[in-house]
Amino acid sequence: MNWQEVKKIAKEKLKPYCRVCPICNGVACAGEVPGMGGVGTGSSFKANVEALNRIKLNLSTIHDVRQPDTEIEIFGQKLSLPVMSAPITGTTYNMGGAITEDVYTQEVIAGSIMAGTIGWTGDGADPLMYGSGIDAIKKNDGKGIPIIKPRAQDEIIKRIRLAEEAKALAVGVDIDGAGLVTMALRGQPVSPKSPKEIEELVKSTKLPFILKGIMTLKEAEIAYNLGVSAIVVSNHGGRILDHTPGVAEVLPEIADKLKGKITIIADGGVRSGVDVLKLLALGADAVLIGRPIVVAVFGGGRDALKLYFETIKNELKQAMLLTGVDSVKNVPKEILR
Ligand SMILES: Cc1cc2nc3c(=O)[nH]c(=O)nc-3n(C[C@H](O)[C@H](O)[C@H](O)COP(=O)(O)O)c2cc1C
Repeated sequence: MNWQEVKKIAKEKLKPYCRVCPICNGVACAGEVPGMGGVGTGSSFKANVEALNRIKLNLSTIHDVRQPDTEIEIFGQKLSLPVMSAPITGTTYNMGGAITEDVYTQEVIAGSIMAGTIGWTGDGADPLMYGSGIDAIKKNDGKGIPIIKPRAQDEIIKRIRLAEEAKALAVGVDIDGAGLVTMALRGQPVSPKSPKEIEELVKSTKLPFILKGIMTLKEAEIAYNLGVSAIVVSNHGGRILDHTPGVAEVLPEIADKLKGKITIIADGGVRSGVDVLKLLALGADAVLIGRPIVVAVFGGGRDALKLYFETIKNELKQAMLLTGVDSVKNVPKEILR
C-alpha cells in the first residue's frame, strides 16, 4: 500500500464531497457544509492553512540532536507521536456514504492504536453517531476520546456516563458546536454554555474533561479557572463561523499564559510533520488532524491510517533533526523565525 494509491481510492469513494486535492487547504470545497469544506466563504478553514504557512522555521544543524524523541504522555496514555485523530462525524451527509459511520469510527480508533496513538470520536444529530464512537472505544479497551455536542445538560451527562462505561481516557464537549442549526432542526438543540453549566459538567465526572473549540485567551482562562483538564484551540476546521482567525494566530497568546497549567491541544490545517512541529513551538502539547484522516480511512482503512501517521512521524522527526529539537515535550519558540 502506498499513499498515492490510497488517495486514488479515496478520491473515487469521496466523489463529489471531497476532491482529495494535492494540498487540502479549503479552496476547492469553500462553502461546502454539509460536505468537507469550511462554512460561508471558507475563510476560516483557509485561515488555518495560511496561518501555518506564514510561520517559518530556523534551519539549524550545528547541535547534538541525533535521535529526536516524539513520545508524549496524555490522559495517562503514552503516545508514539503527539498527534491524534480528530473527532469527525457524518459519513453520509459529509462524505457521501461509501463507508458507514460505524465502519469509519472502528477504523479510526483501530488505525490510531496501530500507529501508537489514539482516535477521538464525535457526536451529531443522528443518535447513532455518538453510539458508533462509544462502541469503537469499548471494543478497544477504552482507548479513545468521545466528544459530545453542547446539548442540554442532562443529555450531555447521560453521554458522559456512556464514556465512563466504555472506560474512555477522557471526555469532552465541542462547545463551538453551539450554533449548529442541523441539530436543532432534528429536535436536538445545542447552545452556548454558562461558566456554571461547564463547572457542573466538569464536576459530574472523574474523567479528564476537555473543552474543544476555544479561540480566545479569555475563554481559555475561564476553562482553566473552572477546572477543565484540556482545551482544544480550534475553529472546528472552519466549519462553524466564517472569518475567524487561523488557529496558529491565536495559539501563542493562549499558550503564553496557560502553558503548563492546562493541557493545550490544537487543530486546524495540520498537513505535515513540519506543521505539527510549528504548533508545538507555538505552545501546543499535542495536535489533532481532521480531514486527511478521512482520506486515509476511505482510501485504505486502518492500514492506510497507520501508514499516514508513520509518514507524519517521520516528517516530524526529520524537522526536529533540522531545527535541533531533542524532544516534542520541549519545543523551544526559538526554532521559529
Ligand atoms: C466532515 C467533518 C465533520 C466533523 N465533525 C466533528 C464532530 O462531530 N465533532 C467535533 O468536535 N468536531 C468535528 N469536526 C472538526 C474536527 O474535529 C477538527 O476540529 C477539524 O477537522 C480540524 O481541521 P482539519 O480538518 O483542517 O485538520 C468535523 C470536521 C469535519 C471536516
